[in-house]
Amino acid sequence: MNQLATRTKMTSQTGLEDLIPDITGDTVSFAGGLPDPEQFPSQAITESYQRVLLHNGLNALQYHNAKGYLPLREKLATQLNQENYRVNTDQIILTQGAQQGLDLVAKLLLNKGDNIVVEAPTYTGALAAFAAYEPTYSELTMNDDGPDLNQLQKVLLTKKIKFIYVIPNFQNPTGIVMSLEKRQRLIELANHYHVIILEDDPYHYLRFNGETLPSLKSLDTEGLVISLGSFSKILAPGLRLGWLLANKELLIQIRYLKDGTDLESPELTQQVVYDYLEHNDFNKHLANLRADYKQKRNWMMTALNKYLPAGFEYSHPDGGFFLWLKGPASLNFDTILRQRMAPKEHILYVPSVNLYASKSVLNGARISYAAPDEVTIDDGIHRLSNVLREELLKAKVQ
Ligand SMILES: Cc1ncc(COP(=O)(O)O)c(C=O)c1O
Repeated sequence: MNQLATRTKMTSQTGLEDLIPDITGDTVSFAGGLPDPEQFPSQAITESYQRVLLHNGLNALQYHNAKGYLPLREKLATQLNQENYRVNTDQIILTQGAQQGLDLVAKLLLNKGDNIVVEAPTYTGALAAFAAYEPTYSELTMNDDGPDLNQLQKVLLTKKIKFIYVIPNFQNPTGIVMSLEKRQRLIELANHYHVIILEDDPYHYLRFNGETLPSLKSLDTEGLVISLGSFSKILAPGLRLGWLLANKELLIQIRYLKDGTDLESPELTQQVVYDYLEHNDFNKHLANLRADYKQKRNWMMTALNKYLPAGFEYSHPDGGFFLWLKGPASLNFDTILRQRMAPKEHILYVPSVNLYASKSVLNGARISYAAPDEVTIDDGIHRLSNVLREELLKAKVQ
C-alpha cells in the first residue's frame, strides 16, 4: 500500500480496535469514554426533532454556514459569559464534537515535524487527530495538581512550540484537575513565550465534588487560548455536536478549514439541540448527571478498595469519567489485556502504552466508570483484580 500518504500511519482511538472482533456480548468494558446511556434524554430529544421538523423543517434541512446556528451560538455565549469567558458569537464555531476541534486546530497550525506539548498521559483521540499532521511531541509529567510546568518552561526555552494541549478538568485519562495556581502560571508562560494553548474541556460541567475552577479561556488575556467544549458527555455523543472558541482572526481561518472539511455541522442537529435547551431544564439534567457519575465513581472506589491487591494505586476523581490505575513497574497492562483480560476474562480497559505520545509507560491503565452499572462494576473489578494478583505473582517468580 505504498500509495498511502505517510500521515495515514496513525494510532487508533483506543488502540483496541484489533481486539474488537474477539469481544463477546458478555464483555465488561471499562475502556471507552462512553456516557451512561440511561441518562440520554431520548424522549425530550425526540420531541425536539418533531417540533423543529414541524415548525422549521424546510429551513433546518437546508445548507447554512460553517460557523453554525446563530441562536445556539448566542445561547452558548450567554452561558459561557456567565463564567467569564468573554466571548461573542463571532468567536464560536459549532463543530462535530470536540474531536473535530482537535483536528481543525492541528490542521490549521501544524506542519510535519512541528513541536507540540502534550500531557503524559493524554487523550488517545487527540494523539490520533494530531498524528495526521506528523508533529513531534514534548511530554509533561502529570502531577496530582496537573502537568509539570517546570518541564514546560524548559521546553519553551529550548524549542519553538506550536501549541500546548491540555485537558484541565478531570483529565482523560487520569481524572486529575489542574489547580488554579497552575492555570494562572500556564497562562503567564503562554503569554511570555507567545504560544497557543489548546484547552480541551468536555468534562467541564461534570464536577461532582468541590468548586468549579475558572477555565483557561476565562483567564486568557492575550487571545492565545483555543477552547473546545462538547455536548457529547452532557447530552449525547450521537448528536456529534461541540464548540470551538478562539480569537476572531484564528476563528476565521478555522471557519475556512471547516468549510473545506464538511461545509458545516448538521443544521438539523444544531436546531434540535437549541430547541432542547429552550424547552427543558438543562441545569436539572446536569445535576442528575453529576449525581449519577458520583454514584458510579463511588461504586468503582468501593470495588477497587475491596478487591485490588496491594501494590496498585488509583486516582480519586472529583468529576468526569475516568480513573488511573497504576501497578508495579514489572507489569505490562497491554500484554495482560491482550493475552488474558480481553480473550479470557472479557474485560477491557485502555493500557497506558496507548496514552503516552512516547509509548513509554506500560504499567498503567485508564478505567472508565461512566457506562457500566453497579453489578457490572463490582463483578468486573473483582475479576480484573484476580487477574492482576496472579500476574503480579508471576512477575515476582520470574
Ligand atoms: C478529552 C476529550 N476530548 C475530546 C473528546 C471527543 O469528544 P466529542 O464526542 O465531543 O468529539 C473526548 C471524548 O472522549 C475526550 O475525552
